[in-house]
Amino acid sequence: GTGGLVDRYGRTATDLRVSLTDRCNLRCTYCMPPEGLDWLPKVEVLTDEEIVRLVRIGVERLGVREVRFTGGEPLLRPGLPGIVAAATALRPRPEVSLTTNAIGLARVAPALAEAGLDRINVSLDTLDPVRFKQLTMRDRLGDVLAGMAAAQDAGLTPVKVNAVLLHGINDVDAVPLLDYCLEHGYQLRFIEQMPLDAHHAWTRGRMVTAEDILERLSVAHTLTPDTEARGSAPAERWLVDGGPSTVGIIASVTRSFCGTCDRTRLTADGQIRNCLFAREESDLRAALRSGATDDEIADRWRIATLSKLPGHGIDDPSFLQPTRPMSAIGG
Ligand code: GTP
Ligand code: 5AD
Ligand code: SF4
Repeated sequence: GTGGLVDRYGRTATDLRVSLTDRCNLRCTYCMPPEGLDWLPKVEVLTDEEIVRLVRIGVERLGVREVRFTGGEPLLRPGLPGIVAAATALRPRPEVSLTTNAIGLARVAPALAEAGLDRINVSLDTLDPVRFKQLTMRDRLGDVLAGMAAAQDAGLTPVKVNAVLLHGINDVDAVPLLDYCLEHGYQLRFIEQMPLDAHHAWTRGRMVTAEDILERLSVAHTLTPDTEARGSAPAERWLVDGGPSTVGIIASVTRSFCGTCDRTRLTADGQIRNCLFAREESDLRAALRSGATDDEIADRWRIATLSKLPGHGIDDPSFLQPTRPMSAIGG
């Protein structure tokens, strides 16, 4: 076949999200149990070369224009700068970015910039060291803040910050997080928690909604809708106190954006998922390791895209959470 990753609803996936590992060095309570999860066996995880080959096929044959490396925690992958360099050497050159918890970033930010990385998104849910430790089970707030600053210094900008709020735990951090990001020139986005936790404990009633977040922020700031075109971006942006700074809200649950979804995902073990909430995967690792040609792999990927559902279906009575948690799919 030829052409891009087109689904039955007319959406074209041009944004490839690659999970480089299912492991993480934090234990955010809403994501992973303190003891961790059953990690993928090493033989099942794609090698650097295998990842680079699949990214190349995506870019050269399937119209992928943006590549996002995620995890688990992608900085745990020693070959990351090399993978980034290979991705940015492709033509047409994709935009290449990273979503990370920023632990260890202070040290590697210059190498990542050197490899051509365009920008970074950092996950940070509180600025209070005690709550950080409660939420993540690790005392690493200082490393995260240093990592963000280093990314900014290395030109990996705009640095975006992702925050998930939990009622009664870190909802009080909403305004301090915004003030900190405004002060440092980071773009903050609040994310509605989705049913992708390892414990399957998510309930709609306990989720902090976009509306809750706007209400909280409006105590300290005036927010007006940003009129700039949103495209397929998950974040809805608001001008803060008249602008030019903005705050984003990713309301995946209460204002889903599936209708304009342009994503395709590759898991660390080489499975294509056409949606975060997909019920099936397509095994590109098996294809790779049994000697498939680039053409054959591209065809499998196109076919995998055809079964993409119109939306996540969280509100359907028959909704079932995917068996893989967020940490094993890629955030
Ligand atoms: P940029 O703004 O371009 O950097 O992209 P992004 O916001 O998609 O990037 P990021 O990796 O920082 O993702 C932020 C959050 O958006 C994730 O943690 C998810 O909660 C949510 N998200 C990312 N991709 C998807 C998706 O495909 N579907 C849904 N429903 N949510 C997503
Ligand atoms: N829903 C929404 N976002 C989540 N993240 C982790 N689990 C969830 C979830 N269930 C976020 C992290 C990080 C990003 C990669 O994904 O907080 O910012
Ligand atoms: Fe795309 Fe699925 Fe996310 Fe909706 S839930 S935006 S369809 S990946």
